[in-house]
Amino acid sequence: MSSNTTRVAVLGATGYVGGQLLAILAGHPAARVTVATTVRHAGQTLADVHPALAPLGHLPLEALDTAAIADRADVVLSALPHGESAAVLGELVDAGLMVADLSADYRFADPAAYAAAYGHPHPRPDLAARAVYGLVEFNRAAIRASRLVGVPGCYPTATLLALLPALQGGLIDPAQGVVVDAKSGISGAGRDAKTQNLFCEVDGGVRAYNVGTHRHQPEMAFQAAALGGRAVPVFFTPQVVPMSRGILASVYARLAPGVTEADLRAAYHKAYAGTPFGQVLPEGSFPNTRQVAGTNRFAVGITADRETGQAALLCVIDNLVKGAAGQAIQCMNLMLGLPEETGLPVMGGVA
Ligand SMILES: NC(=O)c1ccc[n+]([C@@H]2O[C@H](COP(=O)([O-])OP(=O)(O)OC[C@H]3O[C@@H](n4cnc5c(N)ncnc54)[C@H](OP(=O)(O)O)[C@@H]3O)[C@@H](O)[C@H]2O)c1
Repeated sequence: MSSNTTRVAVLGATGYVGGQLLAILAGHPAARVTVATTVRHAGQTLADVHPALAPLGHLPLEALDTAAIADRADVVLSALPHGESAAVLGELVDAGLMVADLSADYRFADPAAYAAAYGHPHPRPDLAARAVYGLVEFNRAAIRASRLVGVPGCYPTATLLALLPALQGGLIDPAQGVVVDAKSGISGAGRDAKTQNLFCEVDGGVRAYNVGTHRHQPEMAFQAAALGGRAVPVFFTPQVVPMSRGILASVYARLAPGVTEADLRAAYHKAYAGTPFGQVLPEGSFPNTRQVAGTNRFAVGITADRETGQAALLCVIDNLVKGAAGQAIQCMNLMLGLPEETGLPVMGGVA
């Protein structure tokens, strides 16, 4: 790789999202990783912690030092926990670096909305107000002009990709609210050991959790209003299913008077025509997480029932790629003035 490629620091390199960032960046033609951080594994190499990344095994894992990062990187892709990110990334933005934050810390332009959702004041309200929400398909121009992006959460990514064409087009009634029923693979919970994520607890069952109280619910409502142009109450039921990766979000909404499935379908085709990663499935076809696994693609299936006035808007993503690392790199590409699809996977395995 040439030495004039962009130097990238990956913060939280030992986690699932950090590992996925490194895996994608290894094939990126215009970026090279110069810093990979950890708290607990400083001094070890990447291969010790992520055996699947053995070809990158030489990369040392180091403690997070903002001065060193500012010296050795141009762009920061950060996969730290929420609450740990805002202050550290603020220092790096102040030092002139471009930042895409995968935590929730820069997803709310309104610091009061962040405080309400996360229960503590935002440490950098000045930057939160300037940060741009990284849902590329609906915020491309703002991301291109930004130096700080809050990359959407995994559930909000799938939900907003399913919802926004209908909401923006006035095809559903926002006053009736929407119900989001979403199923996620277990990697969505991160790599830290937790009893409820053990194989024996997850295998052979489906578990709902944080119904109506999940921290992604306010993010969905905030960004539906910001990007969709209409306030819409959101009720969210997250569920864990026994697979490693993938999200299926099913969004249920009331059709606006007179709207047909053909109207919906036309809006979705228009919204995603010419985008490198979006696919609208044909009538009667509904998405499967397997068709996007390992890729930055998303697939949307829609149906409308005139009799009940119900619309079902479904989207699948890979939570670690379009729902996290891939979307962050898509944002980085735009900030660097590159085609958004540069270096991103579009095909996964076939079995
Ligand atoms: N998993 C997903 O599907 C997904 C999707 C979208 C967004 N996200 C967000 O992306 C971020 C990373 O998620 P993940 O699933 O990769 O989590 P994870 O597997 O638990 O990894 C967390 C990473 O952060 C590091 N870390 C933990 N505490 C830290 C601290 N106080 N200071 C600095 N570094 C610290 C860890 O380092 P060590 O363990 O090496 O010490 C590890 O590298 C989170 O904010 C998450 O909400 C996750």
